[in-house]
Amino acid sequence: MAVNDRRKTWCRIVTALRRKLKPNIPWVIKYRPRRIEEVFNQDDAKKRLIPWIKQWVEGKPPSKRAVLLHGPPGVGKTSLIEAIAREFGLELLELNASDYRSSEAIRRTVGVAANKKPLYGKGIIILLDEIDGIAPREDAGGLRALLDIIPRTRNPIVMTANDPWKDQLRPLHQVAELIQFKPLTVTQVVAILQRICDLEGLECEREALRYIAEVERGDVRASINDLQAVAEGYGRVTLTLVKMLVRGREKKQDIFITLNQIFYASKFWRARAAMSNSQEDYETVIAWLNDNIPRKYEDPRDAFRAFDALSRATIMLNRAKYGGSWALLTYVFSLAGPGVAFARKHAPISKMRYAYPERIKLLARLREVRETRERLAGKIANATLSSKRQVKSEILPYLFIIFREAEDPIPAARLALGYNLDRKEVEFLAGHRAREIMEAIEKIKKSRGPIEMAREAREKKPRPQTTMVEREEETKPKERKARKKEKKPSSTTLDSFFE
Ligand SMILES: Nc1ncnc2c1ncn2[C@@H]1O[C@H](COP(=O)(O)OP(=O)(O)OP(=O)(O)O)[C@@H](O)[C@H]1O
Ligand SMILES: [Mg+2]
Repeated sequence: MAVNDRRKTWCRIVTALRRKLKPNIPWVIKYRPRRIEEVFNQDDAKKRLIPWIKQWVEGKPPSKRAVLLHGPPGVGKTSLIEAIAREFGLELLELNASDYRSSEAIRRTVGVAANKKPLYGKGIIILLDEIDGIAPREDAGGLRALLDIIPRTRNPIVMTANDPWKDQLRPLHQVAELIQFKPLTVTQVVAILQRICDLEGLECEREALRYIAEVERGDVRASINDLQAVAEGYGRVTLTLVKMLVRGREKKQDIFITLNQIFYASKFWRARAAMSNSQEDYETVIAWLNDNIPRKYEDPRDAFRAFDALSRATIMLNRAKYGGSWALLTYVFSLAGPGVAFARKHAPISKMRYAYPERIKLLARLREVRETRERLAGKIANATLSSKRQVKSEILPYLFIIFREAEDPIPAARLALGYNLDRKEVEFLAGHRAREIMEAIEKIKKSRGPIEMAREAREKKPRPQTTMVEREEETKPKERKARKKEKKPSSTTLDSFFE
């Protein structure tokens, strides 16, 4: 065997082992650009966005205090702003459409964030992802509130949208800089796919990669997803396989269009195409169908047949995903599309409006929990001068025991006070015992005499919190250095607590 062949065989064995040991994470996440230079082919956007952020960092907010990044899906809008935040050491406060529906919600989230002081001496970027999710009529109040906040924000606001020319977004053009992201060319997408193939040690035909890139028309996310689907199913990526499996998404569609085309379909093929061309992933469409069948089909017999078809579609989808037989997708399209559409026989379709699926709402709630965990880990990491990762793996497990299992709530309450935890963070750590611990916190606070409180306040001496702009203006570089040297861990650490 030639040395080269032997090397290749080893590479494949090692990769196969690595894949076995490591759970398959989506490649769009695994290969998400971490640094600015890893976001390919968006040089024009970088040339405008980076100087704009630099102005903020230097304490000279630009005249337009928001930017609107626009362009087709999957071309690097979110990735670039995440990479910039990482490289400039800024905190990224990410909100998505569900956080800014009404004017009330906007004021509560964006309004508060706009005046927020950075937690750990860094600046903040407020990211309003997919702002085109704002509905023109129902959420008009939200948009007005946003227009009010932008000119006065003390932190940069970055919005993203696919189509900035939608009527409801036009007023934003006055207050935000528009920065365009272009779809990548076929050659550029092929280069990204080829890099992934090399890193995964995958055998990929160049023609197959070209085919994917052409069908997905410059959408890197969709192209990487296609590549992963074929590679995981068959262990190699050839033109024949790709032609068979990658349908492309000729016309990307809004979820409500997909639902209408299924529930109101008059032709079998239309319902099927609605399912296969949907912009959302198949699981999301199934979740929407699942929660909306009972709203649209009033006769239980119709609903029964529709659920029956949908449950079979779910089985097929799982077999395709976990068993690697992607050919089964064809049944998913037929069962979830026409299977649901033609289940209705006994009653006319109801006029009830579509409801947001519970499962997706739950995922949003889980996201909130993740965010609390991150914030908490950040606070403790700051106080104990360790990394967030260390806190999560070495400190949080003990805190869970102290907060949830210990009979006496006082130690947990003391820790909460020492780390200055808020109610959400205490709830995260304490679960069902949160109330008990909050009460203990109040008791401790009350029992502390004025002398003790004053001493504590003196010891803690919180740094005056200012916004990025104010701080940069106030502090000269030399002073900043001196302050950095002075920085000490806060008075309560786990060690000191157990001493
Ligand atoms: N220009 C690029 N260079 C490298 N990878 C990219 C690029 N664009 C997209 N990707 C890949 O595609 C994935 C999705 O990109 P991203 O979330 O930034 O797209 P987006 O433009 O924000 O799309 P959407 O409008 O749907 O939110 C990323 O995780 C990354 O793997
Ligand atoms: Mg995005």
